Amino acid sequence: MKIHEFEHGLKDRVAIVTGAAFGNGSAFCERLAEEGAIVVIADLADASETAEKVRQAGGRALTVKADCTKPEDVQALIDATLKEFGTIDILVHNVGIYDEAPLELITHEQWSRMMEINLTSLFLVTQAVLPTMKAKNFGRIITMSSNTVWLGTPFLSHYAAAKMGVIGFTRSLASEIGKHGITINAITVGLTATQRPHDVRLSKTILEHILPEQAVHRPDEPEDIANLVAFLALPASGIITGQTINVDGGAARH
Ligand SMILES: NC(=O)c1ccc[n+]([C@@H]2O[C@H](COP(=O)([O-])OP(=O)(O)OC[C@H]3O[C@@H](n4cnc5c(N)ncnc54)[C@H](O)[C@@H]3O)[C@@H](O)[C@H]2O)c1
Repeated sequence: MKIHEFEHGLKDRVAIVTGAAFGNGSAFCERLAEEGAIVVIADLADASETAEKVRQAGGRALTVKADCTKPEDVQALIDATLKEFGTIDILVHNVGIYDEAPLELITHEQWSRMMEINLTSLFLVTQAVLPTMKAKNFGRIITMSSNTVWLGTPFLSHYAAAKMGVIGFTRSLASEIGKHGITINAITVGLTATQRPHDVRLSKTILEHILPEQAVHRPDEPEDIANLVAFLALPASGIITGQTINVDGGAARH
């Protein structure tokens, strides 16, 4: 059975996807649109390519330029969404950065940037969507963690700390918002074949640490993650909350 054949599907549901100009976020937007959702694409960068993909998939798209670590940008994102579509049903908070470094070489500034972008942005955007979701007694929030938190991958102490923080946030908040019909779940994403920005390091050491551990010997595709995002966003997924679901070709088995 295809997701869109479930009783309600995602038809006309309004989804905000952050960090969606490129990579995983872009694939999430396309997949949600295929299932009938209206998609608000929030990114620092120009997201016109993603908007085009959404339209090609038959969906409606709004792009909003926003730095999700800035409260004023986040509020402007919410205001633009409510002005254009009147509600918010789904938040896929995908904004994240990645970097590798031995602990001794991580500067205070690098550490803080990792926390701001991977974790503080999650706090700000989630806090900003909650009043709308609570008022309608419905919401689906999906957060992005990483399977490196299970694998203990080296040189990622700052990244892994932030991504473990995403899991703690998800579990705790699930207990607060379940009574309002809102679910929140985290995905621990495995190594994914996204086109990373040029300045992002992905060393041979990391590849050697992660890929051989996988039961399925290929990197995740963004579409692999997008399938789970679309499933968790469904009204029919309302009993699944506070969970961390691993999509990584079986690298971490638990
Ligand atoms: N690709 C992987 O192998 C992998 C593995 C594990 C987890 N993840 C997680 O998946 C998510 C997406 O990863 P990706 O590989 O697609 O990354 P990516 O770098 O390709 O895309 C990230 C997007 O976020 C945007 N962005 C960055 N900072 C922002 C900010 N402050 N405000 C708004 N937008 C901002 C970027 O412009 C970009 O479009 C991240 O949370 C990442 O940690 C990815």
